[in-house]
Amino acid sequence: MTGSGPFEIPDHIPVTSTSQRLVLNRRGSTVWDVETSAGRVAIKLGYPSQTHAWTALAPAREGAILQELGSSAVTYGEWDHGTWNVQPWHEGTDLQELWTSHRTRGGLADPPVRDALACARALAELHDKGLAHGDVQPAHLILDAEPTRATLIDLALARGVQVPEPFDFPYRGCLVHYESPEISRRVLEDGEAVPTREADVYALGATLFMAATGWRHVEYPDDASRPEQRRAIVNGTHRLVNVTGMLGALINDMLRYHADDRPTTHEVCKTLEQAAA
Ligand SMILES: Nc1ncnc2c1ncn2[C@@H]1O[C@H](COP(=O)(O)OP(=O)(O)OP(=O)(O)O)[C@@H](O)[C@H]1O
Ligand SMILES: [Mg+2]
Repeated sequence: MTGSGPFEIPDHIPVTSTSQRLVLNRRGSTVWDVETSAGRVAIKLGYPSQTHAWTALAPAREGAILQELGSSAVTYGEWDHGTWNVQPWHEGTDLQELWTSHRTRGGLADPPVRDALACARALAELHDKGLAHGDVQPAHLILDAEPTRATLIDLALARGVQVPEPFDFPYRGCLVHYESPEISRRVLEDGEAVPTREADVYALGATLFMAATGWRHVEYPDDASRPEQRRAIVNGTHRLVNVTGMLGALINDMLRYHADDRPTTHEVCKTLEQAAA
């Protein structure tokens, strides 16, 4: 029995910390923000959660993907309860926090288009490398100011590069609040699905909508079970997008029910570039 953390950073991880701060401990993951003489890093420790075994493998899976993408500063390995990774810390603020002052649940939201463009560019860059992210959500987009740049973090569920077999696991959907209808349907019917770029575009639409308005893309009760949430996504339509102008119309397009009807990330970037000009 592993317990529920938070877990201390194991001694054998090759990092000499000068100071450290616990970022979070939940759902099979302890994350530390660590200062070292070589710079600031994030250390992620995975362990089996109450409901899932795969969370123990997630840091190694992400570490392997980041290395495959060329991040030589990333290391990963195993510890007593699962796997770990060390990756560079990305300075900035996540999209949900960044748009707090713009958020309006009632009226017409009018968040900065340049932030949305930075997020779309980060996703387009990943898609251009042949990957689908599989877990796009506001907390996974870290924005840094002047010029606005976004980094898409948490690649643990991404698809498109080879992952060492011992650290691989099937995709069983993501945070349902950002899940596309076709992913929800597959997870309900088969228990697993395959992340796609089209589903990422949907998730980015749901992400921008959530950050701008505080609303989930589809309405369901707060206490609905995961299957109930997924059924609402499959059987329903998304909420009215109360976001201003071209950005609102674009989010509407990104949330199209059928994957083929959605714009690509490059089309999303182009529309946002025009709106930002
Ligand atoms: N490289 C990084 N740079 C900056 N912040 C990071 C980094 N990695 C993780 N974080 C912070 O830690 C949080 C959790 O990280 P991440 O989503 O990668 O872990 P997780 O185990 O998937 O957690 P969750 O269960 O919340 O999804 C992020 O939302 C972010 O605030
Ligand atoms: Mg995460």
